[in-house]
Amino acid sequence: MPVTTRSTDPSRLPRFPADFRWGASTAAYQIEGAADEDGKGPSIWDTFVRRPGAVRDGHTGDTACDHYHRFEEDVALMRRLGLDAYRFSLSWPRIVPTGAGKVEPRGLDFYDRLVDALLDAGIEPTPTLFHWDLPQALEDGGGWLDRDTAYRFGEYAAVAAERLGDRVKRWITLNEPFVHMSFGYGFGVHAPGRALLLDALPVAHHQLLGHGLATAAVRAAVPDAQVLIANNCTPVRLRSDARTDKDTAAASAYDILHNRLFNDPLLQGRYPDLSAYGMSDPSWGGVVRDGDLATIAAPLDGLGINYYNPTWVTAPADPAAGLPFDLAEPEEPYERTAFGWPVVPDGLTELLTGLEERYGAALPPVWITENGCSQPAGLDDPARIDYLAGHLGAIADAMDRGVDVRGYFTWSLLDNFEWAEGYHQRFGLVEVDFATGLRTPRASFEWYRDLIASQRS
Ligand code: FCB
Repeated sequence: MPVTTRSTDPSRLPRFPADFRWGASTAAYQIEGAADEDGKGPSIWDTFVRRPGAVRDGHTGDTACDHYHRFEEDVALMRRLGLDAYRFSLSWPRIVPTGAGKVEPRGLDFYDRLVDALLDAGIEPTPTLFHWDLPQALEDGGGWLDRDTAYRFGEYAAVAAERLGDRVKRWITLNEPFVHMSFGYGFGVHAPGRALLLDALPVAHHQLLGHGLATAAVRAAVPDAQVLIANNCTPVRLRSDARTDKDTAAASAYDILHNRLFNDPLLQGRYPDLSAYGMSDPSWGGVVRDGDLATIAAPLDGLGINYYNPTWVTAPADPAAGLPFDLAEPEEPYERTAFGWPVVPDGLTELLTGLEERYGAALPPVWITENGCSQPAGLDDPARIDYLAGHLGAIADAMDRGVDVRGYFTWSLLDNFEWAEGYHQRFGLVEVDFATGLRTPRASFEWYRDLIASQRS
């Protein structure tokens, strides 16, 4: 069953504005390998992958796609695709091995070469400063539970921007602070593997403070920089058989934790009401200090949105269990990705128009900084083409309704290390043989190339 009734013929997709940017995304730990080369310090992922049972089949990112040594080949693939922009992440411990103090010039040199290769290929480098690979030395001091990490992040952002900012004009501070807080510190299924449940909340504030400090640092070094953040957002849905007032309250509570906890302070300079989580003190017990919200709410040049699927919730079966919602399964028989995630393109339209309704004039231009799907291994991937066509159609629908979307970065250019799933989930337009490093473009690669070309013609 096709996921969308739209045509996947690239020339029949809606026409996007001429200056819309077509891109692809990756992240350092997921592709680079070279885990302890050229002075790189260990990150929390280098540590976490060695914890028995943490990652499926004990996979690690030690080698990953070996992009550190093969980046020229990868840039050549991007050039073949005709990308306008490439979103990648800088590894903080490659640049500042212990997270503070001494800078490793060989780490900066690597990104220097990557940026130059991208510019030679006519591709705008769009780095993310933090995609979850915190220097282990900072985690040893408390990681993002500790306010100091935010200051260290601002200092590292300054180092990166001073070196690369003559050529890099679009910067993304954080990737998915919600997922890093909840998976990394709340449930312990990602690095650093801490299961603190709601005691993980300071991680939200300290990441956002770090975002604000990094924004100021990038702007000081690169006056014409555009600064974005990449938030993972989800429309929250109820099942038709669970729509009591308690279910509605559960949906609102989930929306607060997943979406508003991160978007409201950035766009409105205040946190949402957290009383559903037993928090009535606006300072969160002294975590939120005077002036922090002004730092966090510095105007953004764009809001990055990573979208994969909606979330269904119900009222909690056991309200005493701790969280004011239960996660639920949709009742509709949605097609599923290889990961088991439901394929719901119209959820992206709902998300984007919902952001416009909620934030109005405070919503900056939106960039889709991640969207894509895991599919079975192999070069023929019609389900990925359907997925991409469906979601691009959903973006076009939101743009028709007035949402200002400037670009699209598909996740991902390459098959890569998918966190706790190791190499079991394949998200790439390009298949990677992890034994040899061989890259082979899939049918979806050719489709995306044709799409970009037809949008330009
Ligand atoms: C997002 C992450 C990205 C990738 C995709 C599938 O949450 O930002 O690194 O793992 O999911």
